[in-house]
Amino acid sequence: MERTLSIVKPDGVSGGLIGEVVRRFEKNGIKIAAMKMIHLSRTQAEGFYAVHKERPFFASLTEFMSSGPCLVMVLEGENVIAKNRELMGATDYRKAAEGTIRRDFASDIEKNIVHGSDAPETAAYEIGYFFNQLEIVGK
Ligand code: CMP
Repeated sequence: MERTLSIVKPDGVSGGLIGEVVRRFEKNGIKIAAMKMIHLSRTQAEGFYAVHKERPFFASLTEFMSSGPCLVMVLEGENVIAKNRELMGATDYRKAAEGTIRRDFASDIEKNIVHGSDAPETAAYEIGYFFNQLEIVGK
């Protein structure tokens, strides 16, 4: 059993896509082990995306991520890191496969509706960034 962090980003929340994203997870047998709304400060967004701090898009990304509320979730299931990434589609919505969340709803490489951890180590860091043990249900 694996866990991953999912975020419905400010564009997804303001676009009314929370229900749609959660529905896709549930329809695909992914269990939600934790969820909450959070409005990140700029500093908190910078901490979350610290691995990207040398990238040219870092300032814009952290400004966007702190521009409004996000929904953060812990997803649980077999192979859920890869499964979630498959449902999201590629970072660049123009390269995302048909029927993926980003292909269906994103219109910008940065404002791409959702985030998902890319590996077990990043999942552990990212889950711990938002949730403590008491807030996560399940095993
Ligand atoms: P995410 O999966 O959350 O991981 C890092 C984020 O940085 C990514 O989604 C996009 O929101 C953003 N991002 C990645 N690449 C670029 C890029 N080339 N230009 C702007 N934003 C990007």
